[in-house]
Amino acid sequence: MSNLEITTTLQSNQTISVPQLGLGVWKSRPKECLEAVKSALSLGYRHIDTAAIYGNEADVGTAIKESGVKRSDIFLVTKLWNADQGYDTALRAIDVSLKKLGTDYVDMYLIHFPVSGKRNDSWKALEKIKAEGKAKSIGVSNFMVSHLEELLKETGTVPAMNQVEYHPFLQDTKLKEYCIQKGILLEAYSPLAHGQKLEDARVTKLASQYKKSNAQILIRWSLQVGHVVIPKSKNPERIRENADVYDFVLSDADMKEISTWNEDFRTCWDPTTVE
Ligand SMILES: NC(=O)c1ccc[n+]([C@@H]2O[C@H](COP(=O)([O-])OP(=O)(O)OC[C@H]3O[C@@H](n4cnc5c(N)ncnc54)[C@H](OP(=O)(O)O)[C@@H]3O)[C@@H](O)[C@H]2O)c1
Repeated sequence: MSNLEITTTLQSNQTISVPQLGLGVWKSRPKECLEAVKSALSLGYRHIDTAAIYGNEADVGTAIKESGVKRSDIFLVTKLWNADQGYDTALRAIDVSLKKLGTDYVDMYLIHFPVSGKRNDSWKALEKIKAEGKAKSIGVSNFMVSHLEELLKETGTVPAMNQVEYHPFLQDTKLKEYCIQKGILLEAYSPLAHGQKLEDARVTKLASQYKKSNAQILIRWSLQVGHVVIPKSKNPERIRENADVYDFVLSDADMKEISTWNEDFRTCWDPTTVE
């Protein structure tokens, strides 16, 4: 794991490579989002994670255009919102997102949440969206093992990626094993536990030992366990800090220790109870 770098990509089952580190933009307000994405791209990030519901797709699109980085060098992800789930509505939703993003394709289109009674029809729409070239690859988010099993049974296709909350304080190893077994990339959202565990004493101890920041320890852990990871910051200095994680390696002993920290600490919505 010492050979990781900001250009590291992970191979998905849909013949598309995913840059392992990305920038999340949830809760980045429009102007902040524009600056955050431009900062990230200038620092070498090549993966941006937005969603229709974040209300900032237009700023992401503008930032990409103004960045001077070629569109084809950027891995752009957006998500189908719950209110748009269903076959016809999903087909319309991608067109709205693409218009706001100012592009004719996204690199990955995700079902944002496993909405009961609609998720499988949404997935069939995503397959059409992919066939039409509006998304280079398709995946899901917040899918637990039962949702993935159902999807595979009903539709026969395997998502490229599953974006779920994952950090040392929420380690769903059963879900992770399932994703590995099926060749689904696991993408960790809220890798800093939405900022709520940065002051954990065990993280602080490791930060001082490695002479890195608490956020860097958590991001480095996600990279070393092989997740795609999308820390969010609206602050250019923190965006730089969050990518400055390639000059140290957490030891096997420390990785083993962190693997014991799970406390099912969920900061975002809980898909485990969704039928
Ligand atoms: N699919 C889903 O349902 C879903 C759900 C949640 C999140 N996501 C995606 O995952 C991304 C990341 O998750 P998240 O936004 O929930 O949380 P996160 O990345 O775990 O944490 C973000 C918080 O940490 C702060 N922060 C960032 N870098 C820091 C640093 N170096 N030092 C101290 N504080 C720092 C940020 O504040 P500042 O911005 O002020 O720096 C913000 O308050 C989202 O933006 C979104 O793209 C997806």
